[in-house]
Amino acid sequence: MNYIKLKSIDSTNAYVKREYKHLGHYSVVYALKQNKGKGRNTHIWDSEPNKNLLCSILLKDKILISNGPMLSIYTAVAVIKTLEKLKLKNISIKWPNDIYIKDKKICGILLESKSINNRIEAVIIGIGLNLNQTKFNKEYHATSYKLETHKDIKIEKVLSLLIKELEKILSNKFNYTSFINKHNFLKNKKVSVTIKNKKVMAIALDIDKTGALKVKYQNKIYLIDSNEVNLIIQ
Ligand code: BTN
Repeated sequence: MNYIKLKSIDSTNAYVKREYKHLGHYSVVYALKQNKGKGRNTHIWDSEPNKNLLCSILLKDKILISNGPMLSIYTAVAVIKTLEKLKLKNISIKWPNDIYIKDKKICGILLESKSINNRIEAVIIGIGLNLNQTKFNKEYHATSYKLETHKDIKIEKVLSLLIKELEKILSNKFNYTSFINKHNFLKNKKVSVTIKNKKVMAIALDIDKTGALKVKYQNKIYLIDSNEVNLIIQ
């Protein structure tokens, strides 16, 4: 495990993508400030400097990176277990990549990969976890460790807990289906998904063992993979 701390960077994910050839498997890069933090689907990831955990973990092991969508579920499990260790309550995963406390987002996960000739060479797991920030743009519906507990916490303490959990999970690769379904935010909620190239409203059910979301539409069950989900209606 190799930790790299950056005072300021465009985005830790972008940094690891640029530098991945010179970095080892399991390198962990974290920054106190991002000037161009990336979220999913071209969103930006806003974070006050020095307040939150902004990190990217590089995976280069071929077998590990062949786990596809499960890597994002494993990361979500590691974040949930870390937050449980920090005594937070009402934690859930809003499939595929958001971690919520009640109905507010505390953490976003962005997985990116680096391919050469269509072969994935590396996976970058980006995690933005809100810790000591207390003011957020209303439209984000966000929360943080401090808003939930009224306490400050050291970024490095959370990072080391998180990396320990993630390493444990990635080396065991147990079946986390039942764990994740106990924390399934979307269960029985209406979701807008794409089925046979058509956007439809369906009912979310469980997350299956491959990391896909089961939904019910017109009395049939469909499996949705993480690229096919659009707007979520609660
Ligand atoms: C999302 O919910 O849209 C995913 C957000 C991921 C944000 C993290 S912060 C550290 C890493 N570097 C980035 O530019 N993005 C991820």
